[in-house]
Amino acid sequence: MGLLDKHKILETNATLLLVGSLVVVSIGGIVEIAPLFYLENTIEDVDGVRPYSPLELAGRDIYIREGCYVCHSQMIRPMRDEVERYGHYSLAAESRYDHPFQWGSKRTGPDLARVGGRYSDEWHVQHLINPKSMVEESIMPPYGFLMNNMLTGQYMDDLLRTHRRVGVPYDDEMIASARADFVAQADPDGNHDHGALLDRYPGAVISNFDRQPGVSEMDALVAYLQILGTMVDFSTFTPDPTR
Ligand code: HEC
Repeated sequence: MGLLDKHKILETNATLLLVGSLVVVSIGGIVEIAPLFYLENTIEDVDGVRPYSPLELAGRDIYIREGCYVCHSQMIRPMRDEVERYGHYSLAAESRYDHPFQWGSKRTGPDLARVGGRYSDEWHVQHLINPKSMVEESIMPPYGFLMNNMLTGQYMDDLLRTHRRVGVPYDDEMIASARADFVAQADPDGNHDHGALLDRYPGAVISNFDRQPGVSEMDALVAYLQILGTMVDFSTFTPDPTR
């Protein structure tokens, strides 16, 4: 019996073909997946990466609610043109506390993975109120209504607890002070323990982002934008070649 005839047996017998296909696909699957079980950790530990502060986390929820990810990715690929335009390529560790991650591939607007610190708070607020006022040819929609939506931070402890449940290392102290930290970060002149906030969330930008009293959705969103991609100090970072 020639090879083609043997193959005919397989091709004319649906059950046999199905079993054969499953065997082939399983081998492929095992080759891809099995090594992951033998790695200590698939994400490298990188200094500086920390959980989001309560205000940043609330801003991140607004980012997701408004669908910013429909036009913006948050992952700089390790290719020269990307690195020259946006900065150091994104590390897996930088999105380890993102649930869900915001990598994406749709770039109607620029990648935002390292937008933190690139513009002033005022720039972001003006840009979100009226993108065309800052970038004439912009097609980004306006989000001025975020200025009028005020937040109390009432459920911040629950939000942190939820993220803890999926693996973000929020400790009891962070959860207990979630609401206080939420208010403190947007109120630089108020009587708050900003030192404790910065101990818990190093590098958090403390500012009255929108320049109006109270905490608005605008404050939260800009607090989030300003921390993006700034947690790792790339002047001292050296990639581990064994990874
Ligand atoms: C319809 C697509 C679209 C949506 C939705 C959108 N953007 Fe944009 N965004 C753009 C475009 C295009 C630009 C480039 C022009 C400009 O700067 O306005 C941009 C620019 C930006 C920039 C400046 C980036 C840089 O490096 O210069 C930021 C920050 C930004 N967007 C944030 C947001 C946020 C936050 C949201 C959600 C509230 C959002 N965008 C929603 C299209 C969009």
